[in-house]
Amino acid sequence: MAAEGKYETHEYDVIVIGAGGAGLRAAIEASAQGVKTALVCKSLLGKAHTVMAEGGIAAALGNVYPEDNWKVHFRDTMRGGKMLNNWRMAQIHAQEAPERVLELEEWGALFDRTKDGLILQRDFGGHRYARLAHVGDRTGLEMIRTLQQHAVHKGIDVYMECNVQRLLKDGERISGAFGYWRESGKFVLFKCKAVVLATGGGGKAWKITSNSWEYTGDGIAMALDAGADLIDIEMIQFHPTGMVWPPSVRGILVTEGVRGDGGTLTNSLGKRFMFDYIPDFFKAETAESEKEADGWYEDKKNNRRTPDLLPRDEVARAINAEVKAGRGTSHGGVFLDIASRRPAEYIKRRLPSMYHQFKELADVDITKEPMEVGPTCHYFMGGVRVDADTTAATVPGLFAAGEVAAGLHGANRLGGNSLSDLVVFGRRAGLYAAEHAKALKGPLAVDAGQIEAIAQELLAPFNGKGGENPYTIHADLQDCMQNLVGIIRTETELKEALDKLAAFKQRLTKVNIEGNRQYNPGWHLALDLRSMLEVSEAATLAAIERKESRGGHTRDDYPKTDAKFAKVNVVVKKRKDDLHISQEPLPEMPEELKKIVEEQK
Ligand code: FUM
Repeated sequence: MAAEGKYETHEYDVIVIGAGGAGLRAAIEASAQGVKTALVCKSLLGKAHTVMAEGGIAAALGNVYPEDNWKVHFRDTMRGGKMLNNWRMAQIHAQEAPERVLELEEWGALFDRTKDGLILQRDFGGHRYARLAHVGDRTGLEMIRTLQQHAVHKGIDVYMECNVQRLLKDGERISGAFGYWRESGKFVLFKCKAVVLATGGGGKAWKITSNSWEYTGDGIAMALDAGADLIDIEMIQFHPTGMVWPPSVRGILVTEGVRGDGGTLTNSLGKRFMFDYIPDFFKAETAESEKEADGWYEDKKNNRRTPDLLPRDEVARAINAEVKAGRGTSHGGVFLDIASRRPAEYIKRRLPSMYHQFKELADVDITKEPMEVGPTCHYFMGGVRVDADTTAATVPGLFAAGEVAAGLHGANRLGGNSLSDLVVFGRRAGLYAAEHAKALKGPLAVDAGQIEAIAQELLAPFNGKGGENPYTIHADLQDCMQNLVGIIRTETELKEALDKLAAFKQRLTKVNIEGNRQYNPGWHLALDLRSMLEVSEAATLAAIERKESRGGHTRDDYPKTDAKFAKVNVVVKKRKDDLHISQEPLPEMPEELKKIVEEQK
């Protein structure tokens, strides 16, 4: 029987998978181009990692510092990314971000204001000027609310709690997607001419993480399966400040906005330790003494920098080192203090979510006491390789935007650059996916045999015989990635991780799921484990390949940056069932942009 007859089937021009900021913006754009568009999301609409970008959206609006412009933003992004960024993506991002922020405002986002009524911008790590447009510490939430409302008013079809598991192809071209409804467990087939992946990263494979249950690397695994390339998947961002206590909330994000608004990091000796970790190339721009740093906020016009606001990779490594040296808190973090630096009224107005988060989850009043914080797995810089202008992946008909896509952020993402990434490249993904769909003549086919094989694979956990439990495998995987593929890595540990991952894969074939297909979270996790394991293996192999330290990849056995790796992407491809690693040169940056990076220094 044809798959269309057997399974619930929907036909669209463009399917967008993932409904965070990138997915919503892509669906809005594709639909505006007049093609039939659907938005499919694993979770409830509005529940996306986008909300975890709390402190703001980076765009050189120049509202607080008129001297800011796209060139400075471009330079900061390249430098923060340790020059591993795709220069063209960094250029497009810096040039288009202001327009996208103003568009959000036009669509109803209520940003905080300067005294003159302009959109207010706050400081964040690695940004030369206060550049983050924000809504208190709920910017991602406001962005999702705005985009969601806009998409719903445009009448875009939304499939919620619908978990896409595989992409389908007609020859070399993408022709559909296949998945299941979380509630009924029934399969669903989408036929289409183009797919936009906007599925985020895979941070749920780590134990201490700001990511929620949805972030299991599904889009990355589906892209690999479909034959697309990944780049720089070893580059994982550990946000310096997650909650560390009590254990049940470990990893929940503490926005960089706390430091952007004046908060400082101290160790158990009460020392502002970040002054000991300023890299040489930042020293020229950084406050030379604590006194200067304290005066920084009153001395903005001189652009004094505080080392608490160094890029995230630097701060996360410094906290890690302090804790390892025995100067951490009793729960293995450091202190983040804003109480002694800002009045209570200011803290509650600027950081309302942080105030409530600590009061309710940790019984800490951040207007009176310091917070305990430590690094938390937050973001994948690496992912699906895309064309900088069109977001097209290396498989015809496949596009990717947001965290699932790689290139813009290089080896380390600057805070606030994710929200702008989502709307800049989400729009482009929707636009070019729609163009691709329009240009295709005639319908594409889906292969009933391929679909049947996928359906059987998805049901396999109900027939497993080994008595393995997906929750136990997940906990073991999280321990493995946290301990062996964490902030600091070595070849020995990475190889140990590979062995463990191979064993987890074996164990996954022996998972035995009880019950039936209706809302069965054990089954859902068993399916998610497949992608988490694939992404973990790709990240580990790539981490072994990059024999240097750069941004979100620190090797204890290769502690320095290496010129050999400065200009290469580590590429992962899947051929048959195996992952293959290679190195490929970065696109060469044009002279005029090289000059911008140099001049702005
Ligand atoms: O700290 C934060 O508010 C996170 C922002 C981001 O990841 O861009």
